Amino acid sequence: MDVAARQVEDADVPRVADIFARGFPASIRHYCGDRQPHPVAFIDLFYFLSRVERDLFLVARGPGGPVGYVVAATGPGGLVRAALTTPYVPRAVWRLLSGGYRVSWRSVIRLLRDKIAMAVSPAIVAYRGGEILSVAVAPDHRCRGVGRRLLEAALARLQGRGIRRVRLEVRPENTAALQLYGSLGFAVRGKITDSQGPWLIMIREVAGAEGPAAHAGAEGAAGR
Ligand SMILES: CC(C)(COP(=O)(O)OP(=O)(O)OC[C@H]1O[C@@H](n2cnc3c(N)ncnc32)[C@H](O)[C@@H]1OP(=O)(O)O)[C@@H](O)C(=O)NCCC(=O)NCCS
Repeated sequence: MDVAARQVEDADVPRVADIFARGFPASIRHYCGDRQPHPVAFIDLFYFLSRVERDLFLVARGPGGPVGYVVAATGPGGLVRAALTTPYVPRAVWRLLSGGYRVSWRSVIRLLRDKIAMAVSPAIVAYRGGEILSVAVAPDHRCRGVGRRLLEAALARLQGRGIRRVRLEVRPENTAALQLYGSLGFAVRGKITDSQGPWLIMIREVAGAEGPAAHAGAEGAAGR
């Protein structure tokens, strides 16, 4: 199967949203309870993310469509810019109010409170730089190198943009992700807690300048 990491296209988004929903059931239950949100809630979220830094939103496609994705960012500015300049936020508010997401305001407020508290916390601010916002592989395609190739390609793209430090957060019990991040050079540098429990803050730092040439080479290798 071709698991090369390629830039997301709009047609990929519904499948990516489904991979997300199946990848993070505990978090979704934590914020939303037993009532599963309508799939359009996740589809809208990933359309929004595809407008943040599109070249850092990569998918691995199998014959039936995406089997994994990674969303990276060069910093928090892109999220704020996209929130202010695209129609996704007002649309999301409308769908939330009209019940189209099957998500309560209480869930959204809890989620936003957690995300904002994390974004401004000294433990996170100390490591501003590139970020891995989300990565997941469809359950039936895991343990075949898809996650590794997606992350390698995203890291190569970040490096090609001159980003030397990349941060991510991972739950301490997520053994698979911890192993994968450790093998890619991420190290635990801190801990932070939200309403669901602790997060480990992992950082990967690369010394020296990396130009676009290095970027192209690294991505070719990741896309084998
Ligand atoms: C984490 C995740 C993205 C890994 O994707 P994947 O395609 O299965 O990972 P890979 O096959 O590329 O594995 C790469 C490395 O990860 C580690 N790994 C993967 N699955 C593992 C598991 N179940 N147990 C232990 N280590 C595991 C291994 O070190 C592996 O290296 P190896 O192939 O040399 O043994 C996937 O398990 C997933 O989607 N999980 C749910 C969503 C999630 O937790 N995302 C991360 C949030 S921080």
